[in-house]
Amino acid sequence: MSKILITGGCGFIGSHLARILCAQKHELLLLDAYLNYISPFISHYQHFLKARMAGLLDRPNVRIERGDIRVQKRIQQIMTEWRPDAVVHLAALPSAKEATLYPTEALQINVDGTLSVLEGVRAAGSVKRFIFASSSFVYGHFKSAEADETHPTDPIDVYGGTKLTGEILTKSYAKAHGFEYTIVRPSAVYGFGDANRRVSQILIENAMTGKSLVLHEGGKSRIDFTYAADLADGLARCLERPGAANEIFNLTRGRAREVREFALEVKRHFPHARIEERPSDAARPERGTLSIAKARELLGYAPSVDIESGIASYVADLKERGPRELVS
Ligand SMILES: NC(=O)c1ccc[n+]([C@@H]2O[C@H](COP(=O)([O-])OP(=O)(O)OC[C@H]3O[C@@H](n4cnc5c(N)ncnc54)[C@H](O)[C@@H]3O)[C@@H](O)[C@H]2O)c1
Repeated sequence: MSKILITGGCGFIGSHLARILCAQKHELLLLDAYLNYISPFISHYQHFLKARMAGLLDRPNVRIERGDIRVQKRIQQIMTEWRPDAVVHLAALPSAKEATLYPTEALQINVDGTLSVLEGVRAAGSVKRFIFASSSFVYGHFKSAEADETHPTDPIDVYGGTKLTGEILTKSYAKAHGFEYTIVRPSAVYGFGDANRRVSQILIENAMTGKSLVLHEGGKSRIDFTYAADLADGLARCLERPGAANEIFNLTRGRAREVREFALEVKRHFPHARIEERPSDAARPERGTLSIAKARELLGYAPSVDIESGIASYVADLKERGPRELVS
């Protein structure tokens, strides 16, 4: 049993990971500032926050602390008092679209915030492994159909830039202060609990509320959609596997699908949903499949959820546990 601190632990991915680690009887500290970047007029943030925390709030091995990673003094105090064995750093302004809208905030949270967490790790002196959640956006436009971890990093937007900076800080602090790091690069994670209105959430919620499924440029973009439970399993492996030390991993499904395929799969559950074609709405990197061969080999990572079964589970969960406006 280890003491594991998860920054952003009350978020979408953090809560999926916390559930796995809680069941493994680790002692957890979920540090979160409860920030949300989506307009409260369209967001169901509070509903999803409560739903994510269900089953974690009353666990004796789970402690939840409010704290903003930008406030270095507070982070240092928590780290030096609690002395974690490992840190999973997920807290971020986690959306490329919002990072472009609010670049200063993205820099303050994703770069200054990461620096502050790393300073906390240095001050605590107890951390053996630090896991940093980066993103496939660090690659920029894919230069090959499949990108492995040696693909050049060449971000084309603020979000990718802040994530790449976080990777560099992670590696340099680990080298300077003698702890192990693991950097993970997920892509388009979807599943119950996401409140950031990424394309997967928008398509499904629009179908549930009788709105059109909007496809930009014919929905031809190819994205490596990754089911949240698969990613959470990969992150848990990064904590325990010796082979994860000082490595970078793509943690995705390992198979790009067109956004159109995702929308058509959603439509199978909601046959009356209309598909609407529109021109491109934002500059995004042209992506594709991320190779997960390295994670398979060193972590035993074996994601099993394709969009067909992932969307079915996501829809079922939303019908059972989603906000009333979505299902009534
Ligand atoms: N979801 C994806 O598709 C995806 C893909 C690639 C990378 N990631 C990365 O994974 C991580 C988790 O993403 P998520 O989808 O769970 O997002 P999320 O917004 O659901 O979770 C992030 C959590 O961090 C917290 N947070 C934000 N700023 C904070 C601050 N200053 N101090 C303390 N807490 C703060 C938020 O309150 C939230 O609970 C992020 O680093 C994100 O960039 C996500």
